[in-house]
Amino acid sequence: MLKFDDVHFAYGAGGFITGVSFEIRPGEFVALMGENGAGKSTLCRLCNGLLKPSLGRVTVCGYDTARTPTSALAKRVGFLFQNPDRQLCRNTVREEVELGLEYTVADKTEREHRQDAMLELFGLDGDREPFGLSRGERQKVALASVIAPEPDVLVLDEPTTGLDYRECAAIMDLISRLNSAGTTILMVSHDMEVVSDFASRALVMSGGRLIGEGTVRETMRDIRVMDEASLLPAQIPSLAMRISDLGEEYAGAFTVDEMVSAAENARGACGRAKP
Ligand SMILES: Nc1ncnc2c1ncn2[C@@H]1O[C@H](COP(=O)(O)OP(=O)(O)OP(=O)(O)O)[C@@H](O)[C@H]1O
Ligand SMILES: [Mg+2]
Repeated sequence: MLKFDDVHFAYGAGGFITGVSFEIRPGEFVALMGENGAGKSTLCRLCNGLLKPSLGRVTVCGYDTARTPTSALAKRVGFLFQNPDRQLCRNTVREEVELGLEYTVADKTEREHRQDAMLELFGLDGDREPFGLSRGERQKVALASVIAPEPDVLVLDEPTTGLDYRECAAIMDLISRLNSAGTTILMVSHDMEVVSDFASRALVMSGGRLIGEGTVRETMRDIRVMDEASLLPAQIPSLAMRISDLGEEYAGAFTVDEMVSAAENARGACGRAKP
């Protein structure tokens, strides 16, 4: 679905992305993590052809991004910028949602139908001015515009940064529903709780290189990779690793439910040990 083969990229003279290879299969939800300046946003821009590799190859749904017009790639891969305000440029929410459809859906009636569907799905008022909305609402408008063309792959660059808890939950609920309906997701996030709740696999970058790849569970327990990318695991796996010497039951706990059942097992084992 999305494949990087030994991709290199340089801004100007200095190489930045070096030798990155990975593959994301259809329907996966993959998190991209790493320290500030690791190259996450650069990698996102390589996914949709906004940037082209200087060496190596990026393929999206079988299309080589270096040989495919960006407008054609836009039908396959939707890209949500790190800051939604870089994306918003129209006078009304409805026009903003239409923007994503202008280059991808030729039929006017179909465009209007999809606009209405997006406004309803996101609970947005089409007549509002985007910049009069809250940060969370603006993020919804940007996301609605990106998903209106029904891309196969969604690349989301920090979709929840700057949102309060409720706004974050609303955005993640929508993204999760899209993934359940079959959309492949690559999501940059610094929020390890969001990553552990929603993603199944993780890619970790540091200094322009891919330094780790695996399930989110494996990755958050890989202290070397997490340290190298200046990341801390989510709270439950972090607690599980710290108290694993109290009982092996705790070692693999990753969710609240798993931690509760590990504690119940440990208490049961204590009870059994008593005379
Ligand atoms: N347009 C640009 N021109 C030149 N250098 C750039 C440009 N955009 C990013 N860089 C540099 O490339 C490197 C990677 O930046 P990038 O934005 O991809 O990192 P990031 O992992 O997304 O960081 P953050 O977590 O802060 O968003 C940084 O050193 C950055 O300064
Ligand atoms: Mg970034």
